[in-house]
Amino acid sequence: MALLNILRYPDPRLYKRAARVAEIDEPVRALVRDMAETMYAAPGVGLAATQVDVHKRVVVIDASETRDQLLVLINPEIVAREGIQYCEEGCLSVPGIYEAVERAERVTVHALGVTGRPFTLTAEKLLAICIQHEMDHLEGKVFVDYLSRLKQQRIKAKLQKQLRKTA
Ligand code: NI
Repeated sequence: MALLNILRYPDPRLYKRAARVAEIDEPVRALVRDMAETMYAAPGVGLAATQVDVHKRVVVIDASETRDQLLVLINPEIVAREGIQYCEEGCLSVPGIYEAVERAERVTVHALGVTGRPFTLTAEKLLAICIQHEMDHLEGKVFVDYLSRLKQQRIKAKLQKQLRKTA
């Protein structure tokens, strides 16, 4: 297993659209293991393959308090959404920034698990937010994109300043 490098906003590679996984083979399973390890180490509640510069439709999430409920979504599709919630979100690609974003309150998602078995899951609250947030990454979208232009510019400036400090 290996810790993967997480791309930082506004890296243009975060804006690539991910391709469907044609076959869940050993490289895909290894990617899932490395992504899970990277997410837990960060620590974060979710990670999309896009964030580690692999443009495949793979997401890992663990929104549990006990950090032992790994959810793997391969080729996920939201088939139903209901209600509205606003919650402050963060992102491992946008460190230190938390902003409220509008999301569906409840979503039903179809996906494949790491064994290739299809499943359907209905999620609400934090888990529903995570699913929507991570699936946005697969579309080349970062939560910052929902904010006003002014906020986006401030966040870019702040992150570029952080980057210069660590360089
Ligand atoms: Ni994110």
